[in-house]
Amino acid sequence: MSHKNMNQQIRKNFLPFALPSISEDAIDSVTEVLRSGWITSGPKVKQFEADFSQFLGCDHSIAVSSATAGLHLALEAIGMDKNSAAITSSVTFTATTEAICYFQAEPILTDVDPLSNNMTVATLEASIEKFCTVRSRKLYLKNSKKLVKAILPVHIAGSSCDMEGIISVAKKYNLYVIEDAAHAFPAVYKDKLIGNWGDFTVFSFYATKGITTGEGGMVTTKHGNFADRIRRTRLHGINKIAYDRPSWYYEVTDAGFKYNMTDISAALGISQLKDANFFWDRRRAIAKAYANAFCNIPGMKLPQEDKNGIHSWHLYRIELDPNHAKMGRDSLAEELKDRNIGSSLHFIPIFEHPYYRKKFQYDREDFPAACKMYDRCLSLPLFAGMNDDDVDDVIYAVKNILEN
Ligand SMILES: Cc1ncc(COP(=O)(O)O)c(C=O)c1O
Repeated sequence: MSHKNMNQQIRKNFLPFALPSISEDAIDSVTEVLRSGWITSGPKVKQFEADFSQFLGCDHSIAVSSATAGLHLALEAIGMDKNSAAITSSVTFTATTEAICYFQAEPILTDVDPLSNNMTVATLEASIEKFCTVRSRKLYLKNSKKLVKAILPVHIAGSSCDMEGIISVAKKYNLYVIEDAAHAFPAVYKDKLIGNWGDFTVFSFYATKGITTGEGGMVTTKHGNFADRIRRTRLHGINKIAYDRPSWYYEVTDAGFKYNMTDISAALGISQLKDANFFWDRRRAIAKAYANAFCNIPGMKLPQEDKNGIHSWHLYRIELDPNHAKMGRDSLAEELKDRNIGSSLHFIPIFEHPYYRKKFQYDREDFPAACKMYDRCLSLPLFAGMNDDDVDDVIYAVKNILEN
């Protein structure tokens, strides 16, 4: 029996699975912008981009209104159109595949590694073999004229994909690599932070992410020409933002989008970036506490630290094996809710959603590891603002539910 009595078992207030951590400095920075008279894209966006590039050690950072917008702009820059296709993981949020669909292009899905739930070289090659044909070192969707133009690896939960392997497959078929790093700020693969590997990396600053700007995103790239293009296309294809225009004159060079970040968001981002390492350390410490506490729970598979890098620990996704655990995932989520503890599921595989299944006729049988993940997976609370009592409450509840 535990040291806690029945009253102590139920938290007084609800613990969500994620919450932003907003400091007084962040609130002051935003207030200063609100009072300044310049609230849309201006000096704060420029500073946030420069600080972000410095943090990652990357060449170009372009701030946008969301990661979804960033994925759209990166795909536009490489010339996606209705005769194109792109390969991505079946275990992701709809934003990744939705951005491909904006062009009437086709998302080709891969299965995932059973441990990390990331695309691997093996699952990538299996999908290429099954769904594509090769002609003159180019990949086409089978029985279609659609040319495959990109691979979009998704670093699920903040665990890095095998970027060296994926980049070598991309080189073989002349494909761009656009990383969906919505969960991977900050994360390391081999000797470099994520943001320095593919042709483009797209980060999210949505409310629950590693750092937040409320809504927002960042595209990083080493290609100067693509960076220039995205700087224009994020704001109507205009060659200069209003803040930089000495006179009324500007030119529209492309049919762009309205995906710029505001200075209000950027001020929050600048402040959050200063806390990013502190947030990361705290998330790592919580993940370690969970790993130590849960290691002997029957039928519970725990997320692993990356073999090839450092996990961002954006999410703590466990799996419950129904044959060995005391109960299934859904029951655990319900029991946690009864104890005032939130949880979530990342993600319903893309092929399970009615829109994608109907439009692209995906077959579940092609994605056995993703199906297994979907039956078993649950994300426990993990965010930098959790105090030690919050962490203890989760540990106590999970052990109490699954061990007794
Ligand atoms: C894997 C993944 N990609 C992309 C996105 C989209 O991010 P945003 O909300 O910034 O557009 C999300 C958001 O949760 C995500 O989880």
